[in-house]
Amino acid sequence: MTALKKSYYIKSRDFIRAGEASIKIQTLLKSLNFDPKLIRRVAICGYEGEMNVVMHGGEGSMGFAIHPAELILEISDDGPGIDDIDKAMQKGFSTASDEHREMGFGAGMGLPNMKKNADDFRVESEKGNGTWVRMVFFFNKGGDDG
Ligand SMILES: Nc1ncnc2c1ncn2[C@@H]1O[C@H](COP(=O)(O)OP(=O)(O)OP(=O)(O)O)[C@@H](O)[C@H]1O
Ligand SMILES: [Mg+2]
Repeated sequence: MTALKKSYYIKSRDFIRAGEASIKIQTLLKSLNFDPKLIRRVAICGYEGEMNVVMHGGEGSMGFAIHPAELILEISDDGPGIDDIDKAMQKGFSTASDEHREMGFGAGMGLPNMKKNADDFRVESEKGNGTWVRMVFFFNKGGDDG
């Protein structure tokens, strides 16, 4: 049984609204009294994923589903896709433009941080066909913080 499922649109290259979807999820989880540590991990993953869609991806969406024992967060976009996923997963690898770097992005830490903060992390992408990231957060164990 799925208790709650929601999806938010992410607009590519819209730096004014960037981050809004992850804030909405964070606010909703707070109102449902989820563990603050879990909310923090979901918020980090949501924000990094959302920024990746805004900077590198195409039109996209972020959806989550709350199941009895876990929360699933999915972020996908119909952009150019990732050339080499193994490379993209490496700490410090980034194709961010100078303009993105001036805004403070481009450390190449988004994907590694998402992997670190989720209990399960999967990314799939096809050149020219978009990117799909799925993260799972278990309610009974919280990664590093127990
Ligand atoms: N949705 C996406 N579509 C296309 N390419 C992506 C997407 N997400 C990530 N990438 C590619 O993977 C690289 C690494 O992503 P990652 O989030 O780790 O770093 P970054 O976004 O470049 O910098 P940071 O997240 O630290 O600001 C990106 O530079 C980009 O080349
Ligand atoms: Mg990033």
